Amino acid sequence: MEGRKFNLSNFAIVLVLVFGVANRQCSCAVVQFIFGDSLSDVGNNEYLTKSLARAALPWYGIDLGSGMPNGRFTNGRTVADIIGDKLGLPRPPAFLDPSLDEDTILTSGVNYASGGGGILNETSSHFIQRFSLYKQIELFQGTQELIRRKIGTEAADHFFNRSRYVVALGSNDFINNYFIPLYADSRNYNDNTFIDYLMTTLEAQLKATTTPPLYLLLHSLGARQLTFFGLGPMGCIPLQRFMTSTGSCQESTNKLAQNFNKASANLLDDLSNSLPNATFKFGDAYDAFQSLIDRPYLYGFNNSHAPCCTLGRIRPTLTCTPLSTLCRDRSEYVFWDEYHPTDQANEIIANEIIKKLDMKPINDTTTSP
Ligand SMILES: *[C@@H]1O[C@H](CO)[C@@H](O)[C@H](O)[C@H]1NC(C)=O
Ligand SMILES: *[C@@H]1O[C@H](CO)[C@@H](O)[C@H](O)[C@H]1NC(C)=O
Ligand SMILES: *[C@@H]1O[C@H](CO)[C@@H](O)[C@H](O)[C@H]1NC(C)=O
Ligand SMILES: *[C@@H]1O[C@H](CO)[C@@H](O)[C@H](O)[C@H]1NC(C)=O
Ligand SMILES: *[C@@H]1O[C@H](CO)[C@@H](O)[C@H](O)[C@H]1NC(C)=O
Repeated sequence: MEGRKFNLSNFAIVLVLVFGVANRQCSCAVVQFIFGDSLSDVGNNEYLTKSLARAALPWYGIDLGSGMPNGRFTNGRTVADIIGDKLGLPRPPAFLDPSLDEDTILTSGVNYASGGGGILNETSSHFIQRFSLYKQIELFQGTQELIRRKIGTEAADHFFNRSRYVVALGSNDFINNYFIPLYADSRNYNDNTFIDYLMTTLEAQLKATTTPPLYLLLHSLGARQLTFFGLGPMGCIPLQRFMTSTGSCQESTNKLAQNFNKASANLLDDLSNSLPNATFKFGDAYDAFQSLIDRPYLYGFNNSHAPCCTLGRIRPTLTCTPLSTLCRDRSEYVFWDEYHPTDQANEIIANEIIKKLDMKPINDTTTSP
């Protein structure tokens, strides 16, 4: 009896020690925080009920889980889903998911991506509701408060420092802002100065601005390992092809995407070299995606110009509705709707980013930051 009691109190001391260490070191999982637009949205806009950019109707989501709409703007997985899966990271739930709580955040992270979201606050204002990148980072600050209150500042810092950060947006800043004559940005900038403006919004180390530059803001909040997904050939999405008389890709639009990517890659390099402990990487799949569009048959695809889910000659922004017709074989189409690639095309993009950045599977709690 005596011996047992002794053992029990020993056990209690061990427990205190373990929790003491856990509190300082944080034995939490490595998770992802995802910032982006409709290419990465996993349900936020579903809860923004006034938003005009929502994947709330069939046949969105037809090839994932139950096959019902889940907020993703594609038939299956997003690029971030696929990369996370392959690295062994949990899929972060949407920030607005009502079941999101501190325990879920600590085990799975958060996805703030929102259809229509841009680098600039003013992008996509005609969608009425969407989270811009700035807004997404603001929401992330709220998440940090919540976690600090739950596990303490030191453990929270450790948790956020070793998390993985994905930033994936930019196309809306062109398609739903700069290209639209009603937007002031389309009049106030030219191709070069607009890209400068986007980069300044992300970095602007030297210029005095009212808002902190977005990448620096993320770094100051603990983001150390960040991957930015570059743009694809925007001029080849069905919506842009539809606007050319011949149905071919808009070369000037593709050029803008390439220039944006070049500027982004330089910016991320600079930040990696200048910010303490930062590994900021540019994930590039432009050429692979262009090659898929140019030679779909090589990759087992059959169509790289029309959406799989279509209303025929009517071309609204989001073509996929219960009234739309589906292509016969979804795995043979590069595009799901006017904007967004299919699950199958996303897999090719994801594999390319993994290969280019030599990404390796992440081991859970035992990994040091
Ligand atoms: C963007 O919007 C936020 C509010 O969400 C505001 O605080 C910030 O100053 C804005 N940035 C710019 C450059 O206008
Ligand atoms: C963790 O991030 C904080 C900013 O939130 C920073 O002050 C601290 O130095 C970082 N620690 C490491 C080990 O990177
Ligand atoms: C960088 O990492 C070191 C070692 O982990 C840490 O002590 C330091 O606080 C970090 N600095 C910043 C600014 O993150
Ligand atoms: C592409 O799809 C069409 C219509 O479904 C079919 O007739 C054609 O044979 C397919 N081509 C290839 C190369 O698979
Ligand atoms: C890390 O994970 C990989 C793949 O899951 C596994 O092969 C490797 O043995 C793990 N390493 C450690 C140190 O746990």
